[in-house]
Amino acid sequence: MTARIIDGKAIAQEVRAEWKLRADALKARGITPGLAVIIVGEDPASKVYVANKVKACAELGLHSVHVALPADTSETALLAKIAELNADPKIHGLLVQLPVPKHINSDKVLNAISPEKDVDGFHPLNVGALATGNMRFAPCTPYGALILLQKSGVEIEGKHAVVVGRSNIVGKPMALLLLQHNATVTICTSKTSDLAKHTRDADILVVATGKPRMITGDMIKPGAAVIDVGINRMADGKLCGDVDFESAKEVAGWITPVPGGVGPMTITMLVANTVQSAERAAA
Ligand code: GUN
Repeated sequence: MTARIIDGKAIAQEVRAEWKLRADALKARGITPGLAVIIVGEDPASKVYVANKVKACAELGLHSVHVALPADTSETALLAKIAELNADPKIHGLLVQLPVPKHINSDKVLNAISPEKDVDGFHPLNVGALATGNMRFAPCTPYGALILLQKSGVEIEGKHAVVVGRSNIVGKPMALLLLQHNATVTICTSKTSDLAKHTRDADILVVATGKPRMITGDMIKPGAAVIDVGINRMADGKLCGDVDFESAKEVAGWITPVPGGVGPMTITMLVANTVQSAERAAA
């Protein structure tokens, strides 16, 4: 059996076109959805992510503000910038790219972002809203992974979903989103003993551990939907996921490639959350 490949690029295009219509409808009413992205320091990967976020806004005709602050920016100065953008009516979505330099308390930063503009869904109020089934902003990567499953026709309700990874950005919100869609959810970590026993029982397997190719074909239930959130740069310069694609695709029913799977969806859902925020502000 060879798995159906979930084409994240194609699905992201389709979803972006849907949200562009909603953005255009707002613009016809004189409201241009706006996103502000703050980056502190020079982390090369973060710089690429931020540039791509700003580019996606431009492609959809959204307003965007890119604030690049030096690595030695004080916490006070960053909080002041956040307060300024919280108060700016042209901005509907605001995020600070993580990680921030060590002298800045990231919890303080996430708490300072207005929950109404928190398009990353990382503010404790929005985390709580997701946990209690009153979702306002779903974190972009797990939200994108959920859309990939739905658009691929993978049934979620009643199925056993196993999430490997328990980060605040991916694993925990992914588990909550799947639970919200009536899956039976198990959360594992890379340290779970006899991990394969759990993963082999998964109808839906989402992997976000940051450990290259740690999930191999023998750890997958035949026919399962496998969503690989990992993106690892190998010594030869190539990218690979947390799932060993070659062996996994022979067992799985559906699988996301790396690159070209979950990656293109993250920024798409950021744009979606920004447009949705602008819709709420205009209501
Ligand atoms: N760093 C890695 N992923 C993310 C994300 O989704 N949002 C922010 N703000 N920082 C990140």
